[in-house]
Amino acid sequence: MKQIAILVNPYLTRAEELYQPQRIGEELEALGAKASILKNAFSVHAERERFAEELSRRFDAAVYLDKDRYAPRVLEAHGMRLFDRAEAIELCDDKALTHIALEGLPMPRTYFAPLCYKGDAVPALGEVGEKLGFPLVVKECFGSFGEQVYLAKDGEELKALSERLKLRPHLYQEFIAESAGRDVRLICIGGEAVACMERRAEGDFRSNLARGGKGTPFSPTEEMRRLAREVCSRLRLDFCGIDFLLSKEGPLICEVNSNAFFGGIERETGVNVAGRYARHILSSIE
Ligand SMILES: Nc1ncnc2c1ncn2[C@@H]1O[C@H](COP(=O)(O)OP(=O)(O)O)[C@@H](O)[C@H]1O
Ligand SMILES: [Mg+2]
Repeated sequence: MKQIAILVNPYLTRAEELYQPQRIGEELEALGAKASILKNAFSVHAERERFAEELSRRFDAAVYLDKDRYAPRVLEAHGMRLFDRAEAIELCDDKALTHIALEGLPMPRTYFAPLCYKGDAVPALGEVGEKLGFPLVVKECFGSFGEQVYLAKDGEELKALSERLKLRPHLYQEFIAESAGRDVRLICIGGEAVACMERRAEGDFRSNLARGGKGTPFSPTEEMRRLAREVCSRLRLDFCGIDFLLSKEGPLICEVNSNAFFGGIERETGVNVAGRYARHILSSIE
C-alpha cells in the first residue's frame, strides 16, 4: 500500500485551507493508498535532517500544500517525490519568476521593480508609466486572493503605490481593460486541463472568488489547453490553477498557482479535482 504524506502549513485557519488536504486524503484512500496529513513544521527542529530522512523513508511521496520554500528543498535532498516539486512551487509563488520562466508565451507586458533596501530611497520607475499607460496594474510578487494586486489610475497613484511597496518585491503590468472583472481559471493536472470556470466580479477589476467573484463552468479553448501544457512543462508542475485574462488578441497568462484551491471549482463544475489529482499522484509513483 502506498503511503502518502500531505504536508500542510502549521498555521492553517481558513475552512478552505483545511478542506483541501482532507479532500485529497479522502481520494487517495479511495484509491487504496494511506494518506497522513502532517503539519509542515519539521524544519524548525534541531534534528531537521533526521526528520526529513525519516519522512522520506516512511512515505512514498508527499503532497506539498504549503508554500514554505525551504522544507521542500530539504525533503527532495532526501529523495522524497513532492507534488508539486520544490522548483515548481518557487517559480509559481513569485509572480516575477513565473513571468521570466514563461517568457515568449502570451502575457501582459510587465516590468519588475528593482530591488530596493533603503527606506529613504525614491523608487525608480523608469519608463513604466509612459510604456504601459494608465491605468496600470501593480502587483506584489508574493500574494494571493487578489489582496496584493492594485490599480494605479495615474502617475500620482503609481508613485504612491511604489513608495508604499518599495521595500517588497513587486511588478508593474499592462492593464487588460477588456478583461476587467473577468478571467478564466483553469485547473491542470499532469499538463491536462481538468476543470475550468469563468470568474466575474462586480465593481472590482479583480475576479478572485475570495473577493466576491462568481464562478461559472467554462469550456477552455484549444489555445488555453495548448498554453496550459506549455506552462506545466516549463514550470514542471503536476498540479496548478492558471488564471487567463481575456484580451482582444486572445488568452493571456495572468498567473500560475501551484497551490490553487479547488473547493470553489469543484462546486461550480462538478469535477472531482481531488480525485483526478490523487490518480495522477499514484500513477506517477507506480
Ligand atoms: N494585468 C491585468 N489586467 C486586468 N486584470 C488583471 C490583471 N492582473 C490581474 N488582474 C485581475 O486581478 C486578479 C488577481 O490577480 P492575480 O495576478 O491572479 O493575483 P492573485 O495571486 O492575488 O490571484 C486576476 O484574477 C484578474 O481578475
Ligand atoms: Mg489569481
